[in-house]
Amino acid sequence: MTTTLIDGIGVLYTGDPEREEIEDAAIVLDGGLVAWTGTSGEAPDADERVDAEGRAVIPGFVDSHAHLVFAGDRTAEFQARMSGEPYTGGGIRTTVAATRRAGDAELAARTLGLVDEMCAQGTTTVEIKSGYGLTVADERRSLRIAARLTEETTFLGAHVVPADMDADSYVRLVAGEMLEACAPYAKWVDVFCERGAFDGDQTREILGAGQKAGLGLRVHANQLGEGPGVRIACELGAASADHCTHLTPADVDALASSGTVATLLPGAEFSTRSPYPDARRLIDAGATVALATDCNPGSSFTSSMAFCVALAVREMRMTPLEAIRAATYGGARALRRTDVGWLRPGARADLVVLDAPSYVHLAYRPGVPLVHQVFQGGLLLE
Ligand code: NIG
Ligand code: FE
Repeated sequence: MTTTLIDGIGVLYTGDPEREEIEDAAIVLDGGLVAWTGTSGEAPDADERVDAEGRAVIPGFVDSHAHLVFAGDRTAEFQARMSGEPYTGGGIRTTVAATRRAGDAELAARTLGLVDEMCAQGTTTVEIKSGYGLTVADERRSLRIAARLTEETTFLGAHVVPADMDADSYVRLVAGEMLEACAPYAKWVDVFCERGAFDGDQTREILGAGQKAGLGLRVHANQLGEGPGVRIACELGAASADHCTHLTPADVDALASSGTVATLLPGAEFSTRSPYPDARRLIDAGATVALATDCNPGSSFTSSMAFCVALAVREMRMTPLEAIRAATYGGARALRRTDVGWLRPGARADLVVLDAPSYVHLAYRPGVPLVHQVFQGGLLLE
C-alpha cells in the first residue's frame, strides 16, 4: 500500500476530541486510511510527499441530511416566498409529481450530479433520503438510485400524505408494504413529524415498524412549530432529530440527556426566511449538534456545507470551531459513524485541503470557493 505524507499544513483540524487542532501539521495516509497525524517536524517518512504550502486541512464534510432524488425545481415557489409567502411544506407535492414523471436514467443522472456537486465542495459522506415518490414503486426506485451512491440511505415515505390518499390508509401503506419494499435499500427510516404532515401517533407507528424491519431512526422534528417530534426521537433512541428550530425547554433537556444528535439545517431557515434554531441553547445545554445542508428543491436548494458553516457562525452564534466540528464530527455522530468525520489513525482518509490557512476562513470568507483538493478514501478527486 502506498503511503502519502501531506506536510506544511497551516492548521489541521482533526475533529478528534483528543487533539482537535494541530498547527504546522502533517498527516500520513496509508492507502484509504489515516495512519498518523502530528506536527510537520515529527512527521515520519512516506512513499510520496505533498507540500500543503500552509493551507488548512479538515476532514471531509459529513452531510447527514439531504433529499437528492428528485426532478423539477421550485423556482416559482422560492420567488413567491421572497415576496412574502410563508413556507408550509405543501410544495413537496409539486416535486412528487415531477419526480414520478421522470425516467429512471434522468433521475439517477440528476442525483449523481448533485452528489458530484457536493464532493467538489468537500463533502465526502452524504445521507440521501427518498420522499418524493410516495408510492411503493417510486419510493423503492428512489432508494435504489440512492443506494448506488451512498451507504447512508433513508426511507422517507412519510414525507407528506399524497394528494390522492387519506392519512390513515397512507400511514398503513408506509408502515407496511412500502417499508417492506424499501427496507432492502435503506439503512434509516425518517418521518416528517409536523402539523400538516404526520402527527405524534403516526410518527411512532412508522418509526416502530421501521425499527422492527431493522432500520435506524431519524426524525424531521420541530421545524415549523413546537410538537412531539424531538421528544419521540429521544425516547425511541433515534440517531438524530433534524431541524430543531422550535424547541421547548423539555425538548432541549431531552436532547442534552440522550444520544440523539440535534441536526441543524440553517439553509432551510435561510431559504424560507425563517428564524434560525437556537444553537447556543443546545450547545450550552450539552447536546451534540450536527450541521447539514437539507439539500432539496423546496426549502433549501444548497449543496454547500461551507455555506451552512458560515450561516451557523454568523446567524446562529456558533463559534467557527463549533461549526466545523458540527459539520464533520457532528454529522458522523448523527449517522452513528466512527470511521468518518475525523482524522485520526484508522479513520477513512477523507479530507479537504483548503485554499486558506485555517478552517475559520470558511466563515470569514463566506461564498468564496476555498476547496483546493479533496481526498476520498485516500484518493485525490480530480
Ligand atoms: O427538510 N421538511 C420536510 N422536508 C424538507 C423540505 C422538502 C420540500 O419542501 O420539498 C425539509 O425542509
Ligand atoms: Fe429535510
